[in-house]
Amino acid sequence: PRVAVLYGGPSGEREVSLESGRNVLQALLQLGLDAVGIDVEARRIGAQLHASGAGMAFNVTHGSFGEDGVLQGCLEAQGIPYTGSAVLAAALSMDKWRSKQLWRAEGLPVPEGVLLRRAAAVPDLCAMLGLPFYIKPNRAGSSLGVSKIKAAGDIAAALAAAFAQDSEVICEGAILGREATVAVLDGQALPPIVIETPREFYDYTAKYLADDTRYLLPSGLGEHTDRQLQALALRAFAALDGRDWGRVDFMIDAAGQPFLLEMNSVPGMTSHSLVPMAAAAAGQDFNALCSTILRAAQR
Ligand code: DAL
Ligand code: MG
Repeated sequence: PRVAVLYGGPSGEREVSLESGRNVLQALLQLGLDAVGIDVEARRIGAQLHASGAGMAFNVTHGSFGEDGVLQGCLEAQGIPYTGSAVLAAALSMDKWRSKQLWRAEGLPVPEGVLLRRAAAVPDLCAMLGLPFYIKPNRAGSSLGVSKIKAAGDIAAALAAAFAQDSEVICEGAILGREATVAVLDGQALPPIVIETPREFYDYTAKYLADDTRYLLPSGLGEHTDRQLQALALRAFAALDGRDWGRVDFMIDAAGQPFLLEMNSVPGMTSHSLVPMAAAAAGQDFNALCSTILRAAQR
């Protein structure tokens, strides 16, 4: 069937998704597939799919609408098969708080946190979480609206920035240590990547703009920790009912204990992105990675 690459969309991660989409479309064309690109418009997606003549979708629309189950529901309603997680797993993985509730119930390690709703009273976060801690929109991506709190005086502006992205905000104790990520591809966990940035944390600039972000692959964590992260990633992915591919993000504390941060059901496919890096280390170049995702979705 003709494959529609779905990208762009309305979220704050639109720019990131435009690049993911361009890369995936180019790969599918290089693989000799009949592929077209669709810059997703939420209200018109049914008409856009119909006009494209596509029989299947490769979704790289990040963030709200594209990654949170809504687009997946539209595709279900149109009867069009698509890559990646289905409605429930997409909605859950977009929701950092509820992902962690499920992971905690499965006995998986997650940081301590507090959920705040807009206009609710703000508890004494410094006393509850210690300094530093993070304030994040519950449902957003690419670190948009995320702040690291180093003093009580940072809280008000950070809450405003996070509530600008979402009506729910999570405040989460900082795990002081290293940041790592594990890509899940067609039932396998790829080699972990450790991320190092001279910035306060791996924020939007460190993710897409800076040239001083370092990606360690092999991770340098040792085989034991690598395997532990891979096993945790697969369990976390399965707990949310993930499908085809995704990426599970971790912090590892100074004692070497990993904590789950989140799962991404539509990970970035940009030139700076982590899943393509991990796939390359496992012997799959970008085109092969796209082909694997598509094949997984066709089973
Ligand atoms: N949210 C971005 C696209 C990522 O996880 O790669
Ligand atoms: Mg994310």
